Amino acid sequence: MLENLPENYRAVVFGASGGIGAAMVAALADDPRCAGLWAGARNAPENDDKITGFAFDLSDEASIEAAAEAIGQDGPVHLVLVTTGILHTDTFGPERSWRELDAATMAEVFALNTIGPALIAKHLLDLMPRDEAAIFAALSARVGSIGDNRLGGWHSYRSSKAALNMLIRNFAIELGRKRKQAICVGLHPGTVDTGLSEPFQRGVPEGKLFTPEYSAEKLLGVLSGLEASDSGQAFAWDGQVIAW
Ligand SMILES: NC(=O)c1ccc[n+]([C@@H]2O[C@H](COP(=O)([O-])OP(=O)(O)OC[C@H]3O[C@@H](n4cnc5c(N)ncnc54)[C@H](OP(=O)(O)O)[C@@H]3O)[C@@H](O)[C@H]2O)c1
Repeated sequence: MLENLPENYRAVVFGASGGIGAAMVAALADDPRCAGLWAGARNAPENDDKITGFAFDLSDEASIEAAAEAIGQDGPVHLVLVTTGILHTDTFGPERSWRELDAATMAEVFALNTIGPALIAKHLLDLMPRDEAAIFAALSARVGSIGDNRLGGWHSYRSSKAALNMLIRNFAIELGRKRKQAICVGLHPGTVDTGLSEPFQRGVPEGKLFTPEYSAEKLLGVLSGLEASDSGQAFAWDGQVIAW
């Protein structure tokens, strides 16, 4: 796994408490080539012999900056995974019509799905090595593709992910200027059985609702096959390129 990263690569997961994030942390902890693993969540995960837990909140840039400072003290970071995201809360769900748009809801969804991951990039991309391979990958969603959108609806979620996709492309371009071996991509995990998808799982065809472990394994497999020329794109769990 991740043979395209150096032996003894160092990895960080922002979103370790999520369904997919926790499965990513577990898979990376099992990889003998991973020499250091930081796992971040709003409540810091417990440390063990391989994992260093840290606390951060997407809506608190200082917490992201502090995490980056602590992580960077030990050396360069080769893998940054952003596995956070929001689709619904107790008080709002995805809109079916423009009539349901609410400014505060939109602002919250953009703060968490777009601005938070951008701030993680702001503080972590500079920790990537200049002369070794490295990957920054954020969980986006196929529904954030403008070209793929045939159904409409879910205005805040879709548009927050479309904006995230643009930032990923922008960061890839900027990253490519100074770190030729670095890769910056978006990922679509499939439909995964987590709290985020739970209210929307009814129409999912048989066999198409993945466990977090399956999705994490497929996504890490996709990342393992990437080269610098793939930077700036989005990939689905099965390796397909998603049209922006
Ligand atoms: N599940 C799917 O079917 C599916 C499909 C397409 C795309 N995705 C994307 O995959 C990603 C992960 O989703 P998931 O299914 O694993 O969802 P999840 O289990 O609900 O996990 C969401 C994660 O985001 C974190 N988070 C939310 N607000 C935060 C904040 N203010 N600060 C820090 N962390 C915060 C949560 O932390 P707390 O535990 O502290 O709340 C949790 O770790 C999301 O970007 C989602 O859009 C999922």
